[in-house]
Amino acid sequence: MGRRVYLDHSASTPVDQRVVQVMTPYFTEVYGNPSSVHHFGRAAEHAVEMAREQIAQVLNCQSNEIIFTSGGSEGDSLAIKGIVAAADMYKPHVITSSIEHDAILETVQGLVDADQITATLVPVNRSAAIEVSSMGNALQPQTLIASVVYANNEVGTVQDITGLAALAHEQNVMFHTDAVQAGGQLSLDVQQLGVDMMTLAAHKFYGPKGVGILYVRKGVELSPQQRGGGQEAGMRAGTQNVPLIVGMATALRLAYEELEIRQQHLRDRRDQLIAGILHHVDGAQLTGHPEQRLPSHSSFVIADVQSEALLMHLDMLGIAASSGSACKVGNPEPSSVLLAMGYSAKEALGSLRLTVGLQTTEEDVEFAIRAVVVAVEKVRKLKGVLAT
Ligand SMILES: Cc1ncc(COP(=O)(O)O)c(C=O)c1O
Repeated sequence: MGRRVYLDHSASTPVDQRVVQVMTPYFTEVYGNPSSVHHFGRAAEHAVEMAREQIAQVLNCQSNEIIFTSGGSEGDSLAIKGIVAAADMYKPHVITSSIEHDAILETVQGLVDADQITATLVPVNRSAAIEVSSMGNALQPQTLIASVVYANNEVGTVQDITGLAALAHEQNVMFHTDAVQAGGQLSLDVQQLGVDMMTLAAHKFYGPKGVGILYVRKGVELSPQQRGGGQEAGMRAGTQNVPLIVGMATALRLAYEELEIRQQHLRDRRDQLIAGILHHVDGAQLTGHPEQRLPSHSSFVIADVQSEALLMHLDMLGIAASSGSACKVGNPEPSSVLLAMGYSAKEALGSLRLTVGLQTTEEDVEFAIRAVVVAVEKVRKLKGVLAT
């Protein structure tokens, strides 16, 4: 088999070997139900509570402010639906942005459709940054919560979460951030950020898939969206996934112990990739903010190519890439994020996201740049042939 280079770390990361090692005994040795009172159950419960402590240290919060979930989508959904359901208010107003992940956008839209809330989507500028004044304009007396993604998954732009949260608090509005992409790459100190709720998913920081965190500041009233056994202090029923929770805590601890060295490595590979693509690929433009972006993240629009064809050619050349948004095979639709940033539908159809990881080498990046050049040429030639 030829060389394969994985440049889709924003979709998911490999699990760190150290994390796999820590998790393994919890499948076969410490397998009790954490709610059981006997020795096996207590050992499992101890592991879950130790994991909660470790995570609380990274987030600079109390361990009882952490709810374990099944990942980013559940955390986002629980944050928004839980706050709205607990609110002592008729039809509260919710603010979010036009560049959120669908886990937020569809949850908010669902509540609007059910006539339970009204909502405002705050616009973004050409770099996908949300200006604090734009959020200020969206605030209303009925506003209950604002939810803004910490770092966007498609174009990597990092928002001024501290500034946005402070503005919301001035008006007594709660603030949630979807930090799924930021986890493992940017500070998650909830005191510094000033957020009331924050969503994380372990598979973006070299932990396992299907497990995540919703941080909920003490005093914030949340209504559980899954009821039953009373786990997670009644906030999320269901037997905790002990091995995954233990793995997630280790992955998060390692990410923040090694943060600076990881950031440097990712930025070096990312900047090499951006410089190479912009230099060698005609008609390529960087999307998202040139500086305020995730260390791992590069994204582009490329003139006269369609993402779907480009990704197929790149896969044949050994490169795992993404368009950034969910691609519907055979029916490509322009990314709503790029449209919100002011790109035309035609430009938005040529999006390419290349996200580097801890194992990405300089040679991998060189190989990927050459592959993008070849793939773009092929797609353009093919388009020319089909047009004649
Ligand atoms: C910003 C953001 N939020 C939420 C999610 C959903 O996370 P999960 O797939 O763990 O449910 C993702 C996944 O890519 C994401 O990038």
